[in-house]
Amino acid sequence: MTLSIPHGGLLVNKIDLNYDHSSLTSEIEIDSMALSDMELIANGAFSPLTGFLGKEDYKSILYNMKLKNGFVWSIPVTLPVHENVAKHLNLGENIKLTYKNTVYGVLKVQEIYVPDKLLEAKLVYQTTDTKHPGVKKLLDRPNVYVAGPITLTKLPPKNNSFSSYFNSPMETRKAFEQKGWKTVVGFQTRNPVHRAHEYIQKCALETVDGLFLNPLVGETKSDDIAADVRMESYEVLLKNYYPDERVFLSVFPAAMRYAGPKEAIFHALVRKNYGCTHFIVGRDHAGVGDYYGTYDAQEIFKQFKPEDIGINILCFEHSFYCTTCGNMASSKTCPHPKEDHLHLSGTKVREMLRNGVTPPPQFSRPEVIQVLIKGMKK
Ligand code: ADX
Repeated sequence: MTLSIPHGGLLVNKIDLNYDHSSLTSEIEIDSMALSDMELIANGAFSPLTGFLGKEDYKSILYNMKLKNGFVWSIPVTLPVHENVAKHLNLGENIKLTYKNTVYGVLKVQEIYVPDKLLEAKLVYQTTDTKHPGVKKLLDRPNVYVAGPITLTKLPPKNNSFSSYFNSPMETRKAFEQKGWKTVVGFQTRNPVHRAHEYIQKCALETVDGLFLNPLVGETKSDDIAADVRMESYEVLLKNYYPDERVFLSVFPAAMRYAGPKEAIFHALVRKNYGCTHFIVGRDHAGVGDYYGTYDAQEIFKQFKPEDIGINILCFEHSFYCTTCGNMASSKTCPHPKEDHLHLSGTKVREMLRNGVTPPPQFSRPEVIQVLIKGMKK
């Protein structure tokens, strides 16, 4: 086996740091989610996308989880602008995309359209409830979508406390090759790694060459633990409990959508672009609250031919600590009654910390807990 072929066949590269945009007169200010989407389109993480999506692709994603060219894609990547901004744009013109008044890219305006956001919410998030953080974000953003190919002309700023962990898919692929890894399992997380995460990562690592720990560090909901604290927690965990030569830690600077099953597909395709051959989907992947069933994010992959996904999905049962086994386990590997099981989740760890309770070592490694407690005092 060799590293995965990028989705669509080729790794997209739409970065041109020498691009001269001085003659362009129109510009629009974009939000931080659009900036992160633009960077990930440009560096190939969202291959085969080359820009913000037009109406045909958008509709095809909503109804069929495919781009109009037939490639699987489950989350619309769109550029929302206000009506009063949209009415000044002309089809065919190149416009500058600015964030906090700095130009980061250029977009060729191919289409301007008004989406049905409630339909988008229903089809992507399976709910229109504004308590769902992904739906709230969708509805809070402006109401007109501008579509067209982009060029990234300046790299977005990186968080100073973990700037060395940003790698493009081209760089991660090179790193995996240099390590001699032929098979790599990708792990998505928006939480500090707890014992259930560690268990499923290590079960997977027993069967492949390397683990790509790829925490999402873009926008998350306000009660998720801050990215810089999480990064420090990953560092102490890896230093103390993982063999250095088997793990590569690098961030995924995307915004979290909390779209459960549909985001699981998106997460898997993106990790394929980073070079992974395998991807972990555990319990309620990318879920929030009770919007999705525990294994919906695993079931959804059955709707596709494996070759259309192009990365091996490793599904894991809900894992827990069993006091009788004295070990992490799942219902597949443990015969003991429920009373013996300590159920872990990121939500539970966050709740305990917030209530001043130190999670036990069966929940989280002590070194990780120390980092989280320190982080809460910040
Ligand atoms: S996510 O929103 O990024 O998916 P989280 O960081 O909690 O959330 O989960 C990372 C991965 O670990 C996901 O694939 C999730 O399904 C899996 N996972 C989390 N907790 C458990 C658990 N107790 N048992 C099995 N898998 C789990």
